Amino acid sequence: MAARQLPARTLPRARLFSHTAAKIPLSARLAVAGLGLGAVGVGFAISSEQTQAGALEDIAEPILWAAIRHDLEHIMDDEHAVNPGKDNFHGNTGGGGDIGPMFVRLAWHCSGTFCGKAMNGGSDGGTMRFCPESGHGGNAGLQHARALLEPVFAKYKFAGVTHADIYVFAGNAAIEHMGGPALSFRAGRSDAKGTAKPEDDSRFSPDGRLPDADGRGISPGEHVRDIFYRMGFNDREIVALSGAHGLGHCHTDRSGFWGPWTLHPTTFSNEYFRSLENDKWSKKFEHEGKPWTGPEQYENEGKNLMMLPTDMALTWDPAFRKYVKLYKDCEDTFFADFSAAWTKLTENGCKNLGNAIPNLGEEAENKVLEVHAAIKAAGATAVSVKKKSGWFW
Ligand code: HEM
Repeated sequence: MAARQLPARTLPRARLFSHTAAKIPLSARLAVAGLGLGAVGVGFAISSEQTQAGALEDIAEPILWAAIRHDLEHIMDDEHAVNPGKDNFHGNTGGGGDIGPMFVRLAWHCSGTFCGKAMNGGSDGGTMRFCPESGHGGNAGLQHARALLEPVFAKYKFAGVTHADIYVFAGNAAIEHMGGPALSFRAGRSDAKGTAKPEDDSRFSPDGRLPDADGRGISPGEHVRDIFYRMGFNDREIVALSGAHGLGHCHTDRSGFWGPWTLHPTTFSNEYFRSLENDKWSKKFEHEGKPWTGPEQYENEGKNLMMLPTDMALTWDPAFRKYVKLYKDCEDTFFADFSAAWTKLTENGCKNLGNAIPNLGEEAENKVLEVHAAIKAAGATAVSVKKKSGWFW
């Protein structure tokens, strides 16, 4: 088993987008969301004596998201954050591996249901919270990511934040926290209130929208094109997005596949492309001394890394392979292309997004602490979150 990776400490550079910070009056937010702090827990309401809570009145949108980012990073770095899995991967509690990659997969699976022709699916609605989408085979394991994000939603819902935005933002924050490119984030996704048919609510989608690693009965390359062309991507964007498989693991109790793609599954880099091109890949027949009974997958000579058939298709198909080589040789190009494709992926089908929210990075630290203290002083949400998780504050 690979040595424990420390979470990548390459913190994102502060990156200012052209957007001017929007002030969100709390009262307006509460009115829009139909919530008061009293409505979210044990009947607590802000009073004039609670001076700290007053700091929430004029919270600027970039500060709000900086506070959320802070909590997400806390979860990703917390050895006790729950991510169970029977493969015993190094990482957070339970052997399921690290949290950051799982957040990336969650954001992608929320977004990757989009169909440009039917004009439904995508990240708007936070629809994976509901059956049947939560039970779709492709989403196995993501209940652990959603459970970890629920206290974050509970803590910030007073400000009108939605599950749908948090699911996507957790993916962005994870990529940036693991040393990846700066990513644009625009809030404004809505939350569906309950399950619905795609024909009645375009935020929903039928099963089968996400890719199958075996190629679903056609060649893996053709299947990948079917899936990603449907979302409006071209070959170059498909290869760029696939570079996210430099992160995380396959789990035998989730997808049935086993193993990490790279030696550094918590560092966002072009290692996936280097690995694809430089290692020698062959079909896996054995696992821990016994015959491999899982689905067809590939392994390197050291037998500690894996590739899915759909990953291998990127080297088998010359039109894909030229981009594998491009990204292997130039990480900057990969980062730039990934960043653009990720924004497209996560915004596909979203109708009411605001301006890009600047990532204030460490500059916001003091303000973030003030916001956390104010929320805590304001009471109810904080109390219920604390009771639930114990480690959250
Ligand atoms: C052909 C397309 C794709 C296929 C067939 C595919 C398939 C898979 C499979 C089978 C797993 C293992 C799940 C598990 O057992 O836990 C996985 C994990 C993962 N996928 Fe993909 N994927 C694809 C595209 C993408 C894209 C576009 C992204 C992001 C941009 C992505 C990000 C991830 C991440 C980060 C993990 C690791 C999750 C963890 O460690 O918990 N994948 N993928």
